[in-house]
Amino acid sequence: MPVPEDVIKRAEELRKEIEGHNYSYYVLDNPSITDAGFDQLMRELAALEEQYPELAAPDSPTMRVGGSPREGFVAIRHLSPMLSLGNAFDDGGLRDFDRRVRQGVRDREIEYVAELKIDGLAVSVLYSSGTMERAATRGDGENGEDITPNMRTVRAVPLKLRHPVGLLEVRGEVFMSKEAFARLNQSREDSGDTLFANPRNAAAGSLRQLDPSVTASRQLSAFMYALGAVEGASFKTHSAVLEFLKEQGFKINPHYRVFKDIEKVIEYCSEWQQSRFDLPYATDGIVVKVNSLEVQAELGATMKTPRWAIAFKYPPEQARTIIKEIYIGVGRTGVLTPTAILKPVRLAGTTVTRATLHNEDIIRDKDIRIGDTVIVHKAGDIIPEVLEVVKEGRTGGEHLFKMPEICPECGSGVVRPEGEAAVRCLNSSCPARFREGLIHFVSRGAMDIAGLGPAVIGQLMSAGLVRNPADLYRLKKEDLLPLERMGEKSAQNLVDAIAKSRQNPLHRLIFALGIRHVGERAGKILAERFGSMERIMQARFEDLVNIPEIGPRIAGSIKEFLADPESWGLLEELSGLGLKMEADALKTEDGTGAFQGKTVVLTGGLKRFTRQEAQELVERLGGRVSSSVSKKTDLVVAGEDPGSKYEKAVKLGLQIIDEEEFIRLAGE
Ligand code: IVH
Repeated sequence: MPVPEDVIKRAEELRKEIEGHNYSYYVLDNPSITDAGFDQLMRELAALEEQYPELAAPDSPTMRVGGSPREGFVAIRHLSPMLSLGNAFDDGGLRDFDRRVRQGVRDREIEYVAELKIDGLAVSVLYSSGTMERAATRGDGENGEDITPNMRTVRAVPLKLRHPVGLLEVRGEVFMSKEAFARLNQSREDSGDTLFANPRNAAAGSLRQLDPSVTASRQLSAFMYALGAVEGASFKTHSAVLEFLKEQGFKINPHYRVFKDIEKVIEYCSEWQQSRFDLPYATDGIVVKVNSLEVQAELGATMKTPRWAIAFKYPPEQARTIIKEIYIGVGRTGVLTPTAILKPVRLAGTTVTRATLHNEDIIRDKDIRIGDTVIVHKAGDIIPEVLEVVKEGRTGGEHLFKMPEICPECGSGVVRPEGEAAVRCLNSSCPARFREGLIHFVSRGAMDIAGLGPAVIGQLMSAGLVRNPADLYRLKKEDLLPLERMGEKSAQNLVDAIAKSRQNPLHRLIFALGIRHVGERAGKILAERFGSMERIMQARFEDLVNIPEIGPRIAGSIKEFLADPESWGLLEELSGLGLKMEADALKTEDGTGAFQGKTVVLTGGLKRFTRQEAQELVERLGGRVSSSVSKKTDLVVAGEDPGSKYEKAVKLGLQIIDEEEFIRLAGE
C-alpha cells in the first residue's frame, strides 16, 4: 500500500519536532516540552511507522531506543585516519610544543585553540547527504568497530544535520556525566557486578554493547571537536569548524578559547586545573590545537600524532591522609560495606572525609589498616577511593581490620556466600535494610517520590511512622507535621507526591522493590513479559530463566525474594493501597504494541502458551483475539494441527504465521 502524502508529511513533521526537542534537552540542556508531551509525539510517530512500515528510517527518532542485539562487531575503515595526541605534562612541555610549531612554520602568526580534554571515548560519525550513516570507535586509528545502532541512541548526536552537506566525518568524545557514572557504579555495586574504574571505561563499556538498548539506558552524551573527511564544505580555522558543528546541531564544549600566545594558553590550563572539578563531566587535561587549518596542513603529522596539536595532561589528583576508622554500612540487600573514615583532606575540588573500601578482599589485598597513612583519589573525579597505603608511614600503632561477625545494625549473624566478595546480614527485618530499602524505593528510576530523601526517611522511621514501603501510602499530612523542619506546605507536597507515585508503571514498582540484581532494565523486561505482578509471582524458575537477558542469577534472586512470605504480604498491601500491579498495554521498544489495532485468530495447538496466555499476550500488545476467521482478520496464528479456520484463512489469503513467528513478533 503506498503511503499517503499526508502521512509522509506528518511523519516528517513529527521527526523534526521530536529531534528539535531532543536538541533542546540534550544539546542545549534546556527542555522545550514536558516528558508526557514528548512521549505523546513519539507514540504518534511510532504508530505511523508501524502502520506504514515503508516509513521506517534509520534516522527516525524512534531508532533512538536501541533496536535488536547483534552477533558481533564489524570493522569499519575510517575515511581519514583518527590520530592520537602527543602529551605535555607541564608548562615546559607546552612551551616546547610552541617552539616546534613556530620553527615548523617560520614567520607566520600562530593562533591556538585550547579545549577541555574530555575523559571519554573517541568516536567518528559519518553523515552522508546529511543523514547519520555509520559510526565507529577509534580502534587503531585506521579501523574502528561499527557501533552505528549504539550511536543512534546517544541523543546529543543528531541523526540528521541541520544543513546537509555531501559527506561529513565528525569526530568527538562520547562520555558519561559524573553523576551518571556514580549512579551506574552504585547500582553495579548493589548487584555485585564489577565496577567501572572511570567514566572513560564506563562510556566505552556502554557504547561497545551488542545490545544497543543497553547503550540507550546508559545516559551517554558527546562533545564533538573535529572533522575527518569532508565533501561540500570548507573551513579556514579549527574554531570555524567548532562553530559549524554547533550550527549543524552538535554539542560542542562551550569552554574553548582562542589565544595568540602560548603563555595565555598556560594560564588557561592553570585556571582549569581546579575549576574543572565543578563541571558535571570528568576531564583530564587541555587539548591545544593550532587554529589555522592551512598551518595545520603545513605542519603535518608524524606516524601517529599531529605536529599541530598536543594534550596537556593534569597530574592525577591524589592526596595523602589518615584512616581514622573503618565504618560498616548495611545496604538494602544486607551487604555490609566498609567505608574508611578519613582525616579530612582537600581532593579534586572538595573536602573528603570518607572513601569506600568496597569489601574485605580489597582491604586485605591493599593491606589497609586502621591508622594507616593512605593515598586517596577520586574515580571519575567523583568517588573517593583509597589507592594505596604509604607503608613507610607506619608507626606500629595501626591495627588490622576485621569484618564483624554480626550485623552492626541489628546484631544478627552475617554470612559471606561462596564465590562472593560481599558479607551479608541475613535478617530480612534488619532496620538498616528497611531504611536503605526505603531510600531505594523512593529514588529516581524507582518510585521517584520528590521530597523524600534519606533524612526524612530517617525521621519517619525514628518516629515509628514507617517501617516498609506500604506504610508510606498510609501517611497523612497530620502525621508529618510534627516532624522537624516539616511545614504545612512541604507536608502537603510530600503526601501529594506519594499519592501520585501510585500511578507509576509496573516496571518502576518492580525495580523499586529492590530485589537483588533486578535493575531498571530487568524491571521493564519482567513487566512486559508477564504483564502483571500476579503473573510474576506465579512464575517458575524455568519461566524466568528462559527469558533473554534474565538468566539464572536474576531468576534465582526473584525466586528468593518471592519465597519470603513477607514479600507476598508487602505486595498484597501495596496492591490494596492502589499501586499499579498491571502493566500498561505491552509496548514494543518504539512505543507501540506489536499487534496494535490488529484482530488476531488463534488456531491449532501452541507449545509455549495455553490459549489463555496467548490471548493475554496479544491483548497486552494492543491486539484483539477473535474466535472466527473473516476478511477482517489481520493475522492468523497457526499452531499444530490447525483446523478449518486455517483453511478458511488460506482461502481468504490472510497473513498466517506459525508459533515461532508469533513468539518473535511478540518479542518473547
Ligand atoms: S582532538 C588529532 N580534542 O584525547 C586530534 N581530543 O589523547 C584528535 N580527547 O584520542 C583529538 N577531548 O579521545 C581532541 N577536545 C578534544 C578532546 C580529545 C578528549 C581525547 C581523544 C583523543 C585523546 C588524545
